[in-house]
Amino acid sequence: MSARRSAALRRLYSLYAPFYDALLTRFTRPGRAASVRLAALQPGERVLIPGCGTGLDFAHLPKDVDLVAGDFAPPMVARARRAAERAGFDPEAVQTLDASRLPFPDASFDAVLLHLIVAVVPNPEAVVAEARRVLRPGGRLGLFDKFAPDDQPVAAWRQAVNPLLAFFVTDVTRQAGPLLRGAGFAKEADVPVRLNGLFRAIRAR
Ligand SMILES: C[S@@+](CC[C@H](N)C(=O)[O-])C[C@H]1O[C@@H](n2cnc3c(N)ncnc32)[C@H](O)[C@@H]1O
Repeated sequence: MSARRSAALRRLYSLYAPFYDALLTRFTRPGRAASVRLAALQPGERVLIPGCGTGLDFAHLPKDVDLVAGDFAPPMVARARRAAERAGFDPEAVQTLDASRLPFPDASFDAVLLHLIVAVVPNPEAVVAEARRVLRPGGRLGLFDKFAPDDQPVAAWRQAVNPLLAFFVTDVTRQAGPLLRGAGFAKEADVPVRLNGLFRAIRAR
């Protein structure tokens, strides 16, 4: 089920790629900025962005980090390489990869940014667990995504609209707390960034 959904997602995002920036650059800017600020990236740190899409995050990063990024949709990778070059990073640092099976050794990054991917994939637990595996002890995870509040049952409206939304765009019923705890992360900061807190920027360690 997860493999079939992943293949469908790859096709869907390959189709979305040409329109992605026009639709989302402006709307997502505050969330990206907030997540990068919370991650407090330091010069020379090795930073991984799985599911990087067209690379809209790159312009928000300090220029002196060691960036590695990737996506599983080839048209996204092609655009992200161009975005990396425009932002002053090595385009070769952007590769085709599966965020739920990262091709990197344990403890090989100082920070991982998961932006607008955890609410999209069929297997968010695997994606967050992989981020945890490749982070060094004490490394930071930055999340920017749509999350349901942790401290109450998922609202009826979310459950009602979710089947359609989750198919074409995103799940709106996922809670960050259980996902993070399940992978061994502790949440350190959580700020609302858009649509009355539907979109949140989170730092975990
Ligand atoms: C909503 S877009 C977000 C893109 C980017 N992170 C951003 O913030 O604009 C979701 C992205 O995740 C990618 N994606 C979904 N599942 C993936 C997986 N298992 N491995 C790598 N990329 C994946 C899609 O191809 C798409 O580019």
